[in-house]
Amino acid sequence: MHPKFFLRMSYYTSISVLKPQLKLAQSAGKTIGFVPTMGALHAGHLSLVDQSVKDNGLSVVSIFVNPTQFNNPDDYIKYPRSIEDDIQLLSGYQGKVLVYIPEVSDVYPDGVVTESFDYGGIENEMEGKFRPGHFDGVGTVVKRLFELVEPNNAYFGEKDFQQLQIVKKLVEIENIPVNIIGCPISRAASGLALSSRNKRLDEQQLKASPLIYKVLKQVQKDFGTKSAKSLTQWVENSFNASKELQLEYFTIADEATLKPMQKKSNNKKYRAFIAVFAGDVRLIDNIAL
Ligand code: PAJ
Repeated sequence: MHPKFFLRMSYYTSISVLKPQLKLAQSAGKTIGFVPTMGALHAGHLSLVDQSVKDNGLSVVSIFVNPTQFNNPDDYIKYPRSIEDDIQLLSGYQGKVLVYIPEVSDVYPDGVVTESFDYGGIENEMEGKFRPGHFDGVGTVVKRLFELVEPNNAYFGEKDFQQLQIVKKLVEIENIPVNIIGCPISRAASGLALSSRNKRLDEQQLKASPLIYKVLKQVQKDFGTKSAKSLTQWVENSFNASKELQLEYFTIADEATLKPMQKKSNNKKYRAFIAVFAGDVRLIDNIAL
């Protein structure tokens, strides 16, 4: 079996074909960087790829829309898929990046089953609360992809800050020998955090969407002088006034435990986290305070 050729960039659908390439690079002293994605690639994903290419002799970008992390079946069905465009975008990294678009049988050889993990409590906050089972699905697929690719370094965006913390915990509890590197959030000029789901926003929703980052910036500004309670109230009011956007949650949380801040402490780092619906499109964002 040969890698498939498509718009000049080849890609791999089977680990048995990809693995020899990785072994070859490793035996030449190159480290392997890894950027797992679900495709519908945008500049946010590419910022992770840039970092991986900078840090490693060879990088793998995987594209796999993982069924086990979608708590909402409709979200899974409607998740944007644009493999041709994705490969086109990655063709700029020819020679530095291998694209892995695994068959389901590579990832789930024993059928699609979700493993469950004890992440020490961080899985029960925010996204975990509103998307039951989501982080078991993320842990299942990330663990499996790490087993397949065996990277030295793996790159995850702070856009999904809770996921980044979950993955750090996963490699700790599962003893997986990989460095997890967090990368900053890429935004559109409007401030909207780049996301594959943004493709599903209509014109009105897109026009309303900068409110999310605007609100986070204001919270960042006021964090030193106002209480979490009054900031939360202000955020709720701001979204109540929006026709297009419905707030699901806003929380100021401790970066390490992801638990809501009780009393501000000087030796802890805090972040504001937000989830918003624009119609049935769910958008998340966060900011360091
Ligand atoms: P996906 O949403 O495709 O994101 C892949 C990676 O890109 C994640 O690490 C995510 O945090 C990062 N990313 C997305 N938007 C970003 C932005 N605007 N700025 C910076 N980084 C951004 O996250 C997943 O896929 C999946 O859960 C996955 C880890 C692949 C497991 O299935």
